[in-house]
Amino acid sequence: MKAITGLIGREDLVDKALREIKKGRHVLLTGATGVGKSALLETLLERLERRRAERAPVDAEADDWPRDAETGDAQNQHGHERTRRTQTVIHIADHQPKAQFVDIARKLLAVGLIEPAALELPEEYHYLPPELIEWSRIRRQVNRLSMRDLTAAIIPALHDHQGRVIIAVDDLTSLTPTLVAFWLAVFEVAQVIGCARQKKANVSKLWWKMTEIEIPPLTPDATREIVQAYIARQGMLIESPGLFVGHIVKQSGGNPQAIADMLDDSAKERLVDKRKIREMRHAAGVRYVDFTPVMIIALASVVGARYLAIGTGDTELYIFAGMLAAVVISVRVFLFKGAGKAN
Ligand SMILES: Nc1ncnc2c1ncn2[C@@H]1O[C@H](COP(=O)(O)OP(=O)(O)OP(=O)(O)O)[C@@H](O)[C@H]1O
Ligand SMILES: [Mg+2]
Repeated sequence: MKAITGLIGREDLVDKALREIKKGRHVLLTGATGVGKSALLETLLERLERRRAERAPVDAEADDWPRDAETGDAQNQHGHERTRRTQTVIHIADHQPKAQFVDIARKLLAVGLIEPAALELPEEYHYLPPELIEWSRIRRQVNRLSMRDLTAAIIPALHDHQGRVIIAVDDLTSLTPTLVAFWLAVFEVAQVIGCARQKKANVSKLWWKMTEIEIPPLTPDATREIVQAYIARQGMLIESPGLFVGHIVKQSGGNPQAIADMLDDSAKERLVDKRKIREMRHAAGVRYVDFTPVMIIALASVVGARYLAIGTGDTELYIFAGMLAAVVISVRVFLFKGAGKAN
């Protein structure tokens, strides 16, 4: 959806995250499923890329190193010096923990920051420039490496370019405790920006090293803006745009994925009439159901019944009020637990 509307309603978060990245911090973007972590991460990388291109036109050339570099020593050294100032950003989209390490190795190889020999590739690859190394040919070999071997190749490579490699890893949610040590080693030699749906307690050591930026649901205003931009760009025919927008705001609970689902669904219709609008539902909108008034009334009834029972000496009512109180309290606990999970 971001491709259609652009990133909407996240300017402050983008600025905040860029400030932390500039300070050299490891950053963790957290938030519910579909809240827009990946979209924000992509935007951050685009901004970093743009900033780099604007700031250092000479450095941009150095990106071609060592591809363009002659094999001569002087040239190499020169190229090396230039890359020293250049930041390399590596985007890891895989969600599977080991595959992420394979991907880091792959990307480092592609930009020439890791030697083929370090990945135990056959000699024929050792002197090939990175762009001539076809991933499909070496994938199996790299996949076969153990986590230990992969780390042994990755860490020294990152170390040689200390502080100049940013690793953006889309999803750290399914990280396991056994992998924490490997990631901690990466944290020492590169800057990491990651996303996670939740911070699992068994990998806390990693979260401690990161500055967390929590992504909240979009405000109703931002949601409206997205819907309007989408309608305008996709040229949708809607019977009652006001009702349509209002319904999406309510049903999505500000979750961009929910907004996208409903918009994509509606875009398939020739005409979105009022009946279709009313039928739109999204599970994300459940968040909006507020049980507070119900709970207050229930508690008040219990207290009232208790006093009534004592005042009139009605033992049965007294017992009934006590049982009702127990039910209300336990239901309340479950409701809050459920709400916590949904968020
Ligand atoms: N601020 C925004 N403006 C416009 N579109 C957005 C915005 N945030 C997210 N989107 C879109 O909403 C959808 C869901 O966002 P995204 O995939 O980034 O969520 P996520 O938090 O990474 O989800 P998951 O937990 O499943 O990884 C995508 O289609 C994305 O392009
Ligand atoms: Mg994502």
